[in-house]
Amino acid sequence: MKQFFSVADVANLSQLVDEALQLKSNPFTAANLGKRKTLGLVFLNPSLRTRLSTQKAAIQLGMDVMVMNMDKEGWALETKDGVTMDGNTVEHIREAAAVMGQYCDILGLRSFPKLQDREEDYSEDLFRKFMSYCKVPVISLESATRHPLQSLTDLITIREHWHETARLPKVVMAWAPHIKALPQAVPNSFSEWMCRAQAEGMVDFTIAHPVGYALAEEFTRGATVMHSLDEAIEGADFVYVKNWSSYEDYGKIHSVDERWMIDSSKLTLTNEAKVMHCLPVRRDLELASEVLDGPHALVIQEAGNRVWAAQAVLKRMLEQLL
Ligand code: CP
Repeated sequence: MKQFFSVADVANLSQLVDEALQLKSNPFTAANLGKRKTLGLVFLNPSLRTRLSTQKAAIQLGMDVMVMNMDKEGWALETKDGVTMDGNTVEHIREAAAVMGQYCDILGLRSFPKLQDREEDYSEDLFRKFMSYCKVPVISLESATRHPLQSLTDLITIREHWHETARLPKVVMAWAPHIKALPQAVPNSFSEWMCRAQAEGMVDFTIAHPVGYALAEEFTRGATVMHSLDEAIEGADFVYVKNWSSYEDYGKIHSVDERWMIDSSKLTLTNEAKVMHCLPVRRDLELASEVLDGPHALVIQEAGNRVWAAQAVLKRMLEQLL
């Protein structure tokens, strides 16, 4: 694996999930694979889970890790080509990425969208330039449109908590209210991964959102899309709660309708569904505390599985370097 940017970078989904779960059972089977190899983690935005889980995964593979909080500690980056840098930007991404590639064997990058210009965000211009100029394998720590380490984690978590063989788990991604405009990266990515998992006979996938919150079609092909939360979650085995801002009216908030918040009464419509969220979550706005603190919540186990997703991906990349 030379890059981990989307589900398209994974040849066999089921195999990668199996490998992650094997690493969870035995974390140090490849403890020397990353010896004398350096992972650089570059953050243009905040992170708790991605930062710590990826560091832990790399350490368990024997790697050395360097973390760069580019937004706070680095030079202001210029990402556009052909501009005279006589403004606030100090270093061009061409040099910055190339230099980091000199110090690291694998690089990770987190870069959120600005949510102002849809075309610019969805072109993934910054991320693609970084991948091109650094000349080493790159792992996405969340880009403008996708969060593949989170989505792999989510698939691992669903596999781990589904024990029936007679039918597929019904997985519903449910839009939730929020007061801030959030990117579509997590829901795009979750949908992209679940649509692929559905095509490969692993899940049955539905998306529920209010009118005006349709995601880009490229991420949702094959999913059942509904505009009634109650109807969508009927009989659900897993409810994946997530807010996102509008893709159609780009970056805008149309609704903070509290009837879209999953609480205990909503869960009575489901098949004792397990409730997932990538975190961080705003309690009693996006998701009821009674659910987060109750037996249906899988959010902590899900966050724990971030380590195994990162370790499986890094292991694949290290094997490629041998
Ligand atoms: N879910 C997730 O990516 O968490 P962080 O933003 O804290 O890394």
